[in-house]
Amino acid sequence: MTDRDASVHVRPSTTDDLAAIHAIYAHHVTNGLGSFEEVPPGIDEMAERRLAIVERGMPHLVAEANGRLLGYAYVGPYRPRPAYRYTVENSVYVAPEATRLGVGRALLGTLIEICEAGRWRQMVAVIGDRGNTASIALHAALGFHEAGHLKAVGFKHGRWVDVVIMQRALGVGDDERPGD
Ligand SMILES: CC(C)(COP(=O)(O)OP(=O)(O)OC[C@H]1O[C@@H](n2cnc3c(N)ncnc32)[C@H](O)[C@@H]1OP(=O)(O)O)[C@@H](O)C(=O)NCCC(=O)NCCS
Repeated sequence: MTDRDASVHVRPSTTDDLAAIHAIYAHHVTNGLGSFEEVPPGIDEMAERRLAIVERGMPHLVAEANGRLLGYAYVGPYRPRPAYRYTVENSVYVAPEATRLGVGRALLGTLIEICEAGRWRQMVAVIGDRGNTASIALHAALGFHEAGHLKAVGFKHGRWVDVVIMQRALGVGDDERPGD
């Protein structure tokens, strides 16, 4: 860890963090292609989404430095059908003024650690926009490989948008059968 990253503290989110989480997500929904939502959800909806993650025993984290919340990240089920139960999909969002400071790396690294200590065996990132260099590079830096892409499955901000799918094994991955 560099000095740059050392000041970033990652912890589980609380309901007190929702206003800051909402502001970060609303920015990226409105201005970016990482999320395929087009209208930012309200804080109540964000609270319900967070609770659904927490109630599943899955990590929902925030990163802060000097008392300011700079990003958040979580995993949810990759898909709802039961055979997917060892696979999670991650999401990471960093405040626009705090990118390239190690916040995303700290958040995603902690998500991976927590999931490896749990029952999950694969983590998938479904990245909006082939041009999302930051997200693709962040995931590659943390051991994800590109599993493929889906062409023009989104239409946002007036253009077709590809999705890049990246994947990383967690712990023993598929070297062993799951225990539970
Ligand atoms: C993607 C995102 C989470 C990255 O967060 P971040 O805090 O800026 O990333 P970090 O500073 O931790 O970068 C970690 C590594 O990722 C890579 N990286 C991050 N941003 C990059 C960029 N713009 N260009 C190239 N590489 C980049 C680098 O390898 C970097 O390591 P380095 O700084 O030591 O070279 C952030 O840009 C973001 O919130 N983007 C918009 C929302 C989004 O697309 N989220 C992902 C949805 S799947």
